[in-house]
Amino acid sequence: MKELLERYPATSEFMLDMLHDLQDAEPKNYLKPEALQAVAEYLSVPLSEVVSTATFYTMYSLKPRGKHVIRLCESPPCQLVGAESLLEILAKHLAVKVGETTADGVFELETASCLGVCGVAPAMMIDAELYGNLTEARIVDVIEDVRRRDATS
Ligand code: FES
Repeated sequence: MKELLERYPATSEFMLDMLHDLQDAEPKNYLKPEALQAVAEYLSVPLSEVVSTATFYTMYSLKPRGKHVIRLCESPPCQLVGAESLLEILAKHLAVKVGETTADGVFELETASCLGVCGVAPAMMIDAELYGNLTEARIVDVIEDVRRRDATS
């Protein structure tokens, strides 16, 4: 943890990057209490400041999640072209509700506001990768591709 933090100068402008790195380093994709504490100590800021930053941004989680986080956009442009039914398909395929982890721990299903790629709506992200022009036929293939890549890596 210390090594990750020491990649950055000890100033608050790097807090988001530090939180990203610490979350990415955790197999369950979340910020443990000790990670938040370490950031507070490294930056010499109150723990409450780190916690309020980590809870403000939806990309951070304070609870364990699946290895891969799916964020399906639910803003109006994506809704207008079928995001709602895609969410139903994902939830059914993965046997989870939004905010839950699949039984095998591989996926977390989340929704997000506009991902900034409305031109290819409906869209989702899996971890840092964007997928657009999703269709009911394609969305399950995308998920299964990630699962296959994971199994062979
Ligand atoms: S509204 Fe979905 S990407 Fe912009």
